[in-house]
Amino acid sequence: KKILFVASEAVPFIKTGGLADVVGSLPKCFPKEHFDIRVMIPKYLCIKEELRNQMTYIDHFYMDYLDQSRYVGILQYVYEGITFYFIDNESYFNGPKPYGDWLYDLEKFCFFSRAALSSLPVIGFQPDVVHCHDWQTALIPVLLKDRFHDGEFFRSMKSVITIHNLKFQGVWDVKTIQRLTCLPDYYFTPDKLEAYKDGNLLKGGIVYADAITTVSDTYAKEIQMPFYGEGLDGLMRAREGSLRGIVNGIDYEEFNPENDTYIVQNYNFENVQNEKSKNKTALQKELGLAQDENKFMIGIVSRLTDQKGLDLIQCIMDELCQDEIQLVILGTGDERYENMFRHYAWKYQDKVSANIYYSEAMSHKIYAACDAFLMPSLFEPCGLSQLMSLRYGTLPIVRETGGLKDTVEPYNEYEKSGTGFSFSNYNAHEMLGIIRYAESIFYDKKKEWNLLVCRAMTKDFSWKTSAMKYQELYDWLTGC
Ligand code: ADP
Ligand code: GLC
Repeated sequence: KKILFVASEAVPFIKTGGLADVVGSLPKCFPKEHFDIRVMIPKYLCIKEELRNQMTYIDHFYMDYLDQSRYVGILQYVYEGITFYFIDNESYFNGPKPYGDWLYDLEKFCFFSRAALSSLPVIGFQPDVVHCHDWQTALIPVLLKDRFHDGEFFRSMKSVITIHNLKFQGVWDVKTIQRLTCLPDYYFTPDKLEAYKDGNLLKGGIVYADAITTVSDTYAKEIQMPFYGEGLDGLMRAREGSLRGIVNGIDYEEFNPENDTYIVQNYNFENVQNEKSKNKTALQKELGLAQDENKFMIGIVSRLTDQKGLDLIQCIMDELCQDEIQLVILGTGDERYENMFRHYAWKYQDKVSANIYYSEAMSHKIYAACDAFLMPSLFEPCGLSQLMSLRYGTLPIVRETGGLKDTVEPYNEYEKSGTGFSFSNYNAHEMLGIIRYAESIFYDKKKEWNLLVCRAMTKDFSWKTSAMKYQELYDWLTGC
């Protein structure tokens, strides 16, 4: 079976969030005898030069788009056994980041979606299923149904759209979306690409895809309700029969405390109690925090946006900093939150470290060094950071929403079960209460804590189970 992933980002080439982790790591997890999975992303200029240099030119053609004949180059790179294709067009993909100006992004990804499909006959790859991800490639299911590419080549292709985040939908006024998609009037009614009088790309994908998935069971249910539905909950309910939640996994090779080269001390679940804390003291030294291996260290690695529950943290920062804790933050995003963490790092110098930048290496050091990982999201389709923390024996403290609810089992002191800590309401003091509860287990019931760490580390959040669910979905779609 031939499957094509089309997306706006994929590790190791380009990453702004968890989407890239999924698109880069899931294709490796299918049995090669039965599945030929390939990936297509734009050839951004901001992809590291050493990776760009490995790409080989395959072909190019010209495509009419917005009254111009546009160059579409196709490059290829077989990375860890997976064929990645890159769509090249210098005027669209030469920015300093993959995304920037909203309106221009819409044009960029409408172009990309069309170019991706048009390049398939040129490459000679005819997938059974085109698997699209988020609004950036949501136009593809519409184009496939539209038989925009007429002829046999596209006729039997099925489409899947995975919703990684329903908040971002690719919305602009109808006239603009119609111009950018080059679709006829017929598509711009409230049962198709129109939503609340605007044009909406993601909605088009959800209406026209043969199957819809999202990245956890709980989020699949949540988005059928107004609070999480981002205005599309009615549509999600209408398409419930074609919607499944398949929880994300992580790359167990890349995230492995036993051979992670970013961290000073490797460890596994057998020697974690003696070895892990060496990563903590090394990080304390590196970041200028008080050096004490017994201090309860909490980590945050996150995009700094409203989604991640950072206003709850802001609300209780002063109270939390009265405790025997350290807080290490790594993230970039809204200026409001960047400055908030900078302020507290200045105010509590030996307790709080604010690292307002993006670094793969620092993220691994934090996953390995901390005792707990805080992720109090307002909503969380899946979340990968908590899975990485579990893998490193760093206990997640999360709000019970979306994938956080599905992957973190709250500690139960009576049953002696659980892999982390969780709270339910979006309330800062409910969160503080659970952080303090975790603190008390860490300081006063070390044996219990250590058992929690072992349980967390031995849970399996590799792609194994979820990749099988995608296989079943592809089998079902293609009727075999
Ligand atoms: P989202 O996709 O909503 O941002 P996820 O938890 O699914 O959330 O994925 C976030 C990914 O991005 C994780 O791999 C996390 O380690 C990584 N990440 C986020 N911020 C940074 C940063 N500043 N530096 C390095 N990695 C980061
Ligand atoms: C989105 C979501 C996150 C999810 C990721 C990968 O960025 O915010 O929860 O883990 O996509 O699916």
